[in-house]
Amino acid sequence: MEQGLDFHTALALLDWQVELGADEAITDAPINRYDVVPEPAPIAAPAPLPTFTPGAPPPLAEGPDPVEHATTLAAHAQTLEDLRDAIAAFDLCDLKKGARNLVFADGTPRARVMILGEAPGRDEDMEGRPFVGRAGQLLDRMLAAIGLSRTSPDPETAVYITNVLPWRPPQNRDPTDDEIAMMLPFVKRQIALAAPDILVLMGNTPCAAILGRRGILRLRGQWQQSLGLPVLPMTHPAYLLRTPQAKREAWADLLSLKARLTAPK
Ligand code: URA
Repeated sequence: MEQGLDFHTALALLDWQVELGADEAITDAPINRYDVVPEPAPIAAPAPLPTFTPGAPPPLAEGPDPVEHATTLAAHAQTLEDLRDAIAAFDLCDLKKGARNLVFADGTPRARVMILGEAPGRDEDMEGRPFVGRAGQLLDRMLAAIGLSRTSPDPETAVYITNVLPWRPPQNRDPTDDEIAMMLPFVKRQIALAAPDILVLMGNTPCAAILGRRGILRLRGQWQQSLGLPVLPMTHPAYLLRTPQAKREAWADLLSLKARLTAPK
């Protein structure tokens, strides 16, 4: 005959279990853990193996290379309007996300003089046109002093103006080398499509982009040859606003530009 536990023994056993930490009844019947077969963990589907074609470059782990992608888009542009659309569709430069407007160009395509600046500032970002702030107004006065204007329809006296970067960098910080490199294919195509006779580089960023050199205070006023064009580095008008004593040298550079334009071809 089965003998039940008396009250005091049962209570002592219970106390002992509580002391061991078993202070909660989970199921009515006890579970023998040695009998429980653990459920197998679901097996994750194996990652597909990369396909490999002999002779082909290995597939890229990341997204498209920005410089390659820009080069392809730029090469397809047959007109400046195409190029503007291609830049607007280019999503690999993060500056685009923080900019209000794309700043493409101003002035007259096919003007004899093309001016390449650095990047839009606050005013340019708001208006969507290059060189419209204080530096731009000084640029207009400098150009007027040698008979050039961005509003002239005549290629002889007109200018075509753009920047290395079409989007404003946050807080007007300097463009990074990566940003310059990825936008350079578009800039080169823009120069080819605008077809100027002379390219003026305003400041360090365009010198870095087109000549692969910085040091505008040494480069300024020294004619170079690049992309099949005579190229004149000049100090940026924003620098001239901060450093009025440098205007004298800028005037000499403007006269040098004027002399090139009026020299017999
Ligand atoms: N500075 C530049 O280089 N470009 C502009 O468009 C305005 C200021």
